[in-house]
Amino acid sequence: MSPKIAVLADRVADQIAAGEVVERPASVVKELVENALDAGAHEVRVELEGGGRTLIRVSDDGSGMDRADARLALTRHATSKITDASDLIGVATYGFRGEALPSIAAVSRFELETSADGITGTRVRVAGGTVEAVEDAVRRQGTTVTVRALFFNLPARRKFLRAPATETRAAVEALTVLALARPDVAFSLSSDARALLDVPRVDRLIDRVHGLWGRDLADTLLPVEFREAALEVTGFAQRPSQAKPAGRKGYVFVRGRPIKDPFILRAAEAGYRSTVAPGDRPSLLLYLDLPGDAVDVNVHPAKLEARFRDKFFVEQMVQEAVRRALVPLAAAAPIGGAGGEMGPWQGIGGELGGGVPLELFPGNGGAAGATRGPELLQDQHSAHERVLYEGVLQQLQGDGAPAQRLLLPLTLDFTPPELEAIDEHRELLHRVGFELEALSGRSVIVSTAPNPHPRFEAARCLQELVSDLAGGRFGGWANRLERFAATYACRAAIKAGHHLDPDEMRELVVRLLTATLPAHDVHGRPTIVQLPRAELERRFGRS
Ligand SMILES: Nc1ncnc2c1ncn2[C@@H]1O[C@H](COP(=O)(O)OP(=O)(O)OP(=O)(O)O)[C@@H](O)[C@H]1O
Ligand SMILES: [Mg+2]
Repeated sequence: MSPKIAVLADRVADQIAAGEVVERPASVVKELVENALDAGAHEVRVELEGGGRTLIRVSDDGSGMDRADARLALTRHATSKITDASDLIGVATYGFRGEALPSIAAVSRFELETSADGITGTRVRVAGGTVEAVEDAVRRQGTTVTVRALFFNLPARRKFLRAPATETRAAVEALTVLALARPDVAFSLSSDARALLDVPRVDRLIDRVHGLWGRDLADTLLPVEFREAALEVTGFAQRPSQAKPAGRKGYVFVRGRPIKDPFILRAAEAGYRSTVAPGDRPSLLLYLDLPGDAVDVNVHPAKLEARFRDKFFVEQMVQEAVRRALVPLAAAAPIGGAGGEMGPWQGIGGELGGGVPLELFPGNGGAAGATRGPELLQDQHSAHERVLYEGVLQQLQGDGAPAQRLLLPLTLDFTPPELEAIDEHRELLHRVGFELEALSGRSVIVSTAPNPHPRFEAARCLQELVSDLAGGRFGGWANRLERFAATYACRAAIKAGHHLDPDEMRELVVRLLTATLPAHDVHGRPTIVQLPRAELERRFGRS
């Protein structure tokens, strides 16, 4: 009987290991570009043909390798980046396993050209893991790796490659992620000679965002800057009003390393609380920095995950970081979007930070005429809605709101589904101030009502509120209390057309300023927009 267990030939073992690292052209791009960055490159170029199936080439101007290193680089577990396991703690390079190059060379026709001094150069050719030639080459300092016929010796894997356009898109995404990690490096990618990505070296992350996606996204982002204990959270969070149901960008970097972590993103979204309409997703770029021993990056074959020593703390802090980014009135949406006229407001990365001084509000202290800088306009309904929402939420969680006993109790009629909604929400209605009692048939007697402002119309508010509750409006709100509070705030708020006298306006502004998330109403619409003085003057024909 022949033995059942046999040691695999090295070649087969290499191919199996390659499956962990090399899944598709995009993973080759990722590994090669990471190597270029680890080698200190200032510029990295990627070329694809046939979606990477025919050719993937990555060139860099990094340190390069001498001949001995070039040979060694293709040996499994040969790495220049760590020497023993303790170096893994806090490892700062992308690579540390010494696996990527041999894995890629095992499943392709592979060529490495490199020079460490710009004078002597080496070319190593490998086919399906077999070294075919080591020869002289001429090139400047740096390294070029060319990967042809990916998976030529693994037909089953080759068959699984998607259409060239799909593979190309994945490769562009892989490069985009690294470009976000390293704004100080120039990147380009061409596919069948078409330039798909081309970004120069920049100093500021926002300029990289701009280079990758244009002003349309860059202008909607607010800076995140937060530190608690040894954890630092920086990056950008999108203005709530700009969140969209689809197509958001969500990236997390941990110690400069791109990580796929839906929990961190979810924690960040929790930081938006009620400012984003249900179903909308804000774009988020989050950079977490913490000591090397607080996180393990060696937990995933492609290093796409990290394990935090204290995940709960990290998530809490991410949420707090985003919440704080939204608090300043900087979150107010600019009128007219982009534009070079924003003066000191331009450049979300910079000066804005803290918040807007009170004097900028017209109506606050009457100093508006004398101030320079932007004016802020508020939508009185939205602003009021936000103020009410936050108050009501507290009342619902606490002792309830002060109610007024009506001199003449109201009698209102409702439909059967509305009566059901009343029944279901009786306790919440009571807490905001409505005391109701079912009469015969469809009638309800209202004996007390809230009194949130002098123009409040109790009967109309209750009717609209109950109709919303019965009709499932605001249904997307995760939490029943929040849903109720949002519905109530929407219906109880001053209507857009109501005339407010200056005192009432001033009071609303002050109350808005003390709200936790002042810049957006419960639908994610802005409560305030900023208007640069120059723009205001231009519109009145004064400039
Ligand atoms: N573009 C490059 N420029 C200079 N040296 C390189 C380059 N690419 C690879 N090397 C050298 O070859 C070695 C092997 O690279 P490889 O990607 O296989 O392993 P690694 O980066 O050390 O670890 P990992 O498998 O985690 O990526 C590297 O440690 C580095 O010394
Ligand atoms: Mg590597």
